[in-house]
Amino acid sequence: MRGRRQQARWRGHLSWGIVDRVSTPQPPAGPDGEDLKSLARSMRLLFELSARTLTENAGPSELARRVIGHLGCELPAVVPVTKRFSLWEHVNLQRGVDAYLAAQPGDRSWFGASGLGHRPREDMLSLISMPAHFGGVRPGAAVYGTAATGPERNAEVVMFGLVTSTAPDGTPVVIGIHNESQYGPNICSLEVLAADPSAGAATRDEIERLMRIHDVFRGQVLSFTASEHHGNELVSFLPRPAVAADDIVLPDGLLEHIEAHIIGVADWSAELLGAGQHLKRGLLLHGPPGTGKTHTVRYLMGRLDSCTVILLTGLSIRFIDQAAALARRLQPSVVVLEDVDLVALDRDYAPGGQPLLFSLLEAMDGVGTDADVTFVLTTNRADVLETALADRPGRIDLAVEIPRPDAPCRERLLRVYARDLRIDADLGPVVAGTEGVTASFVKEMIRRTVLASLRAGDAPPVLRGAYFADVLDEMTGERQALTRSLLGGNPGGRNPARSK
Ligand SMILES: Nc1ncnc2c1ncn2[C@@H]1O[C@H](COP(=O)(O)OP(=O)(O)O)[C@@H](O)[C@H]1O
Ligand SMILES: [Mg+2]
Repeated sequence: MRGRRQQARWRGHLSWGIVDRVSTPQPPAGPDGEDLKSLARSMRLLFELSARTLTENAGPSELARRVIGHLGCELPAVVPVTKRFSLWEHVNLQRGVDAYLAAQPGDRSWFGASGLGHRPREDMLSLISMPAHFGGVRPGAAVYGTAATGPERNAEVVMFGLVTSTAPDGTPVVIGIHNESQYGPNICSLEVLAADPSAGAATRDEIERLMRIHDVFRGQVLSFTASEHHGNELVSFLPRPAVAADDIVLPDGLLEHIEAHIIGVADWSAELLGAGQHLKRGLLLHGPPGTGKTHTVRYLMGRLDSCTVILLTGLSIRFIDQAAALARRLQPSVVVLEDVDLVALDRDYAPGGQPLLFSLLEAMDGVGTDADVTFVLTTNRADVLETALADRPGRIDLAVEIPRPDAPCRERLLRVYARDLRIDADLGPVVAGTEGVTASFVKEMIRRTVLASLRAGDAPPVLRGAYFADVLDEMTGERQALTRSLLGGNPGGRNPARSK
C-alpha cells in the first residue's frame, strides 16, 4: 500500500519537471524552496524504501544455510582458518585434503557456488556471507581443473569448492579449496570454516601433515620455470634420464670419483650422521662446453633413482630459495644448478640486488649441514665462480674438471657413438686429427660420417676412413670456423687423417 502511494508521489515529481518545460513558453524559473523540500522528502523515502527492500530479502543465502546448517551455528559465529600455498602446491593440497576426507566419516561430495556471475571468487567466508537479495549465492557444482602428478600423469584438482567434514575431534567443519590464479594472486588456499577456531586449526594442521606424507614431488625429477602468464614460478615434472655408465667417456676413475662422493654419502647417510658427520654436499663440474658436464649430471640423476632432483637452469636459478626449501623437505635430494656462470653475477633477479650467485650460496647454506641434500653446480667458467667460492668456503666440497677428451677417450667416444655400425677405418688418424676437440664434437663427427656413408649408398652405413677424412676436413675447415667454435673445436686444427 505504502509502496504504491510512494510510487504515485514519485511520478508526480517526474511530471513536475516535464509539465514545467512543456507548458511554459518562457525560460523555466528555477525550483523554489518548496520544490526542493518536496524533492528531498521524496528522495529520503526512496532511500528508505530501498534499504527496507534489502533487509526484508536478506538473510543467509542458500549457500550460507548449507554451511551453517552443517556447522550448527549462526553466520557471524563462523571462523575461517586459512592457509595459502604457492600455486604449484595445489596438487599436494588436493592430495592432503583427499587423504583427510578419506579418514573422516561423511559423504565427501564437493559443492561450489552458483549465481556469482563474473564476480571474482573471493574468500569462502565473504562469499557465503553475501546477503541473499537478488537471488543470492546458491550451492552449485564445484569447479575442477587438472594438475600434473608426474611427467605424463595428471590428476583432477578442485579449483573452487567446499566439502562438509569434521575436525579430528569430530567437530563439524567445512573445508574449502580455492585456486585464485585466474583472477589475481598466484596462490591457492585452503580454508577451514568452523564455529570453533581450534577445530579449524587442527583440521588444517592434519591436512598439512597429510600433504607431506602424500607429497607428489617426492622422488621425482622437477624443474622450476617461470610462468609466462604470471611471472611466478612453476614446477614441472621431467622424465628421469637413463644414461648408461658406458656412454660417459671420461678419464679413467673420474666418474667413479664423482659417484663415490655423491652416492657414497647417500649410501651411508645414517651412519655418517651417527658419527657426527655432515651429509650436505656440493659438487662443482667445470670445463669447456660440450665435454659432458650435463651428460654426467644426467647419469647421476639416473643412478640416484630414489632421490628427488630439482633442476634449475639459467634464469630459473632465481628460484633457488624455493628449490632449496623443497630439497630440504624432500630429502634425500639433489639440486642441480646448470651453467651457473650465465647468471652468477646477475643482480637483476636477486633479492636485495646482490649477485644471484650469493643468493645461491646463501640458499646452500640455509639447507643445514645435516640435510641429505646435494648441490651440483655446472659451469663453463670456473674463473667467474672462483672468487665467490673462495670467499665462502665449504659450499663446494668437490670440484671436478671435465676436460676435453685425450686420445684414448676420443677413441672410446668414436666407438660409443658409432654404436653397432661397422668401422672400416684405421681410427688412429681420426683420433690424432681430433686432438683438442670436445666430446660433443666427436659425436657430431660420427653423425656426419654416417650421413656421408648413407649418401654414398651404403646400406647399412659403414664408417670408412675416406668419409672420416672428408668430415674432418669439413669440420676443421676455415668455412666452419663459427660452427667449430660453437662445438668447442680445436682452433687451427690440422687433419692428420687426410695426410695419411
Ligand atoms: N664425456 C662425454 N662422454 C660421452 N658423450 C659426451 C661426453 N661429453 C659430451 N657428450 C655428448 O655431447 C652432448 C653434449 O654434452 P653436454 O654434457 O651437454 O656438455 P656440457 O659439458 O656443455 O654440459 C651430450 O649430450 C653427449 O651426447
Ligand atoms: Mg651443460
